[in-house]
This record gives sequence, structure tokens and C-alpha cells, in this order.
Amino acid sequence: MLTAICRYGPRVVPETDAIVQRCRDRGELIDGPDIAAFEQACADRIGVEESVSASYGRMAFYYILNALDLRDGGEVILPALTFWVVPEMVRVAGLTPVFADVDPRTFNLDPASFERAISSRTVAVVPTHLYGLPCDMDAIVAIARRHRLAIVEDCAHALGATSRGSHAGTFGDAAFFSFQTLKPLNTYGGGLAVARDPRVLRRIRAQAEAEPWPSIERVRTRLRLGWVQRTFSRPSVFTVTAYPALLAAALWNGRADVYLWEKIRPLSPMPDSYRERYTNVQAAIGLAALDRLVEWTRATRAHAAIMDEALQGIPGVQVPHVPEGAGHVYYQYCVYAPDRDRLVRRALWRGIDVETLHVDVCSTLSIFGTQPPTPGAERAAQVVQLPVYASLGSRRARRIARRVRRLLAANAAFQDPVQKARTDIAKV
Ligand SMILES: Cc1ncc(COP(=O)(O)O)c(C=O)c1O
Repeated sequence: MLTAICRYGPRVVPETDAIVQRCRDRGELIDGPDIAAFEQACADRIGVEESVSASYGRMAFYYILNALDLRDGGEVILPALTFWVVPEMVRVAGLTPVFADVDPRTFNLDPASFERAISSRTVAVVPTHLYGLPCDMDAIVAIARRHRLAIVEDCAHALGATSRGSHAGTFGDAAFFSFQTLKPLNTYGGGLAVARDPRVLRRIRAQAEAEPWPSIERVRTRLRLGWVQRTFSRPSVFTVTAYPALLAAALWNGRADVYLWEKIRPLSPMPDSYRERYTNVQAAIGLAALDRLVEWTRATRAHAAIMDEALQGIPGVQVPHVPEGAGHVYYQYCVYAPDRDRLVRRALWRGIDVETLHVDVCSTLSIFGTQPPTPGAERAAQVVQLPVYASLGSRRARRIARRVRRLLAANAAFQDPVQKARTDIAKV
């Protein structure tokens, strides 16, 4: 039987179970020496002096906003295309999110739109290196400095990404990273903050370390959840579990994947689970994962190159644009293609689970009130996100490239099997 290919491929350290066992034997599941070692290893990797771990990327962001001591109620400019939690955390920190548009070619904050969004109340900007491609930081930093705005880089997708040789996270005043299961470095949750000014970093650390330790039960639950996530995304398991459910939902024009997403809601009061410290066992896994980061990035880039080669030159198809000097890490590989939704259904029918939108067009979400239109973000939401993750392997990457190329090249006379099945069922 041909195995189906899952849209997600978490980066899993093969010796995870042994690391967990070692921490358990030493009584170091929660607190322990790996936390400081991991923070230092991350700082070294990013190219900064020091870093601070946190329970989530969003909490690292929250501590940064507090530590920067921004004017109460001040406006923070974010790209309209981002994960809804980020602007919501701006509100939780007592500030006001304002959205600027993105460049649909790069999916990143458009410097001209950012400058237009600046008002007398603006205090900061959050360039998000979306999908692992660094923003145009030369332009963004120049504008921010001219208007005396703080710059907080959202590097949730971008550990390992570079711009002219410098790492994402080193261009602004502060930056944060995420270690959630699907991120470039997976420690089954967690986040990290860095800051240029040591005084700001000290204030971030004071907040992070004032949080309580999680209970042993919570740590066990997190590790169990991690096991479930990595097991279910394995091709052999995915093929007989989630894949049939996705296929069945597609038959009825439904989306089974939406049940996995975090419900969009106000985060004030802040959920209790946010308010805890990053644990030693996660840091120990993170240290082992850091050793593999370069290899994972290399494999992901190789898979992206296979897609580039196969899909370039097909009319109406646009593969990811990588500006000169940018080191993309392809957290997501996004392609513009005609008749996107039909392509997604056909790919699924042929065993390839394809994602469409991994983040949100936040300017259209009602929790953020009425915002100016952001046509670039709406356009940028119309892509297919093809799997290129590290564990895919080049054989499967080539299979995806071949199939998607065939689907794209097929003419309109090709009958969509999912559509046909739906019509047939409706006729009964
Ligand atoms: C662009 C972006 N920023 C921030 C975050 C928040 O990271 P975390 O889930 O670790 O809080 C995410 C998470 O998916 C994200 O996609």
C-alpha cells in the first residue's frame, strides 16, 4: 500500500526516550543544569551573548514587551499575516496592535506599509520572519530608527535563518523564538527571548524566573502529547489514522484539520498554563536537537530545491521568492497556484496532505476590531504549502514534486475525483 504523506513532520531527536529517562533518573525532569546550558547554546547559535527560556514563544514576547517599558496603550505595528496569538499578546501587555500589509512575494512585512501605519502613538514594530524567510531588515530597521520605535523580531519560524550572514534575531532590540512541536527546534513547547540591551534581558529573566515550576504531572502530559504528535505524523500511522479522516472531510467540503488549531479568543486573563517555567527535560532535548539543526536545515532546503526545480516554469505557478542574501529555512514552502482549493483536494486524493494557511490574516479577525484593508496579506493567504520538512526524505519529496507538477500541468478537462464522488453521492 502506498503511504500518505502528512503535511507536518516534527523534528524528533532519535534519543528522546533516553534523554527523558536520564533526566528522570537524576531527578531533573523539572529543574536542572540543562536549562542554563541550553540557553547558552541557543545564544551561541543565534550569535548573541545570552538568552532566556520561557514556557512559550508568546510568553517570551510578552516578557519582552514588558521589559522594553513601552508607553501604556501605545501602538505596536505587526504584519497582518501572522499567528493571531502574537497581536493578542500585545493587547494582554496593555498595548494596541495595528496591522500593516505584507509583500505577497515574500509573505513578510512590507516596509512601505509599515511606514504608512506609523502614528504619534506608535511605540514598536514586530517584523515576523514568516515561514522562515528573513524580512527586509535593512529597510525596516532604518524606518524604525528614524521614528524611534523598538524592534521585536518574531523568529518563531526562523531559527537558523540568515540575512547577509547574520542570524534572524540579531537585527532589532529584542527577538523571540518558539520551540513548539512543529517549529525548527522542537522541545514539545517552549520559547526563548534575546535582547540587545543587557538591562532589558535582565528584566526579561526576572519575569521568566518568577513563574512557578510546572507540576510533574504537567511535564509528563507534555511528553506524552509529544509522543502522540510524533507517532501520528509518521507516514505508516498517518496513512491509516488522520489521512482517512481528512479525506472523508474533504468529500464533504469540510476541513478536519481546523480542530487541531488553537481557538481564536481573548487571552486575558492569561491561561494558567502560560505562567510556568521552561523545564530541564525540554532543555535537555533542545540541546540534542541543536546538534542536529544544521543537518535538518540542510535536508529541508534540499527538499525545497526539489520542489523549485519541478514547479518552476509552470504557467500561473510561483515558487517561493528568496531575495538576494537571504538564507531561507523553509518552515513552510508556499506556492501560488491556479485553482488552489481544487489542487489541494486532488493532492489529498493522491495521498499528499497539503496545508493552505498556517497563520491568520489578523486584520480580518473580529477580535482585533476594524482594521484597514490588507490586500497583500489576503493574496498571501492563497497559497498551497507543500511538505518539505527534514524527515520527508528526498524520495518522498520527489514523489510530491512529480505529483503536484502533474496536477498543475493537467488541463481543465481532468476530472476532480473528490468532486465527482461528492456529485455521485448527492445524486443517490
Ligand atoms: C509566527 C508565530 N509567532 C509566534 C508564535 C508563538 O509561538 P508559541 O506557540 O511558542 O507561543 C507562533 C506559533 O505558532 C507563530 O507561528
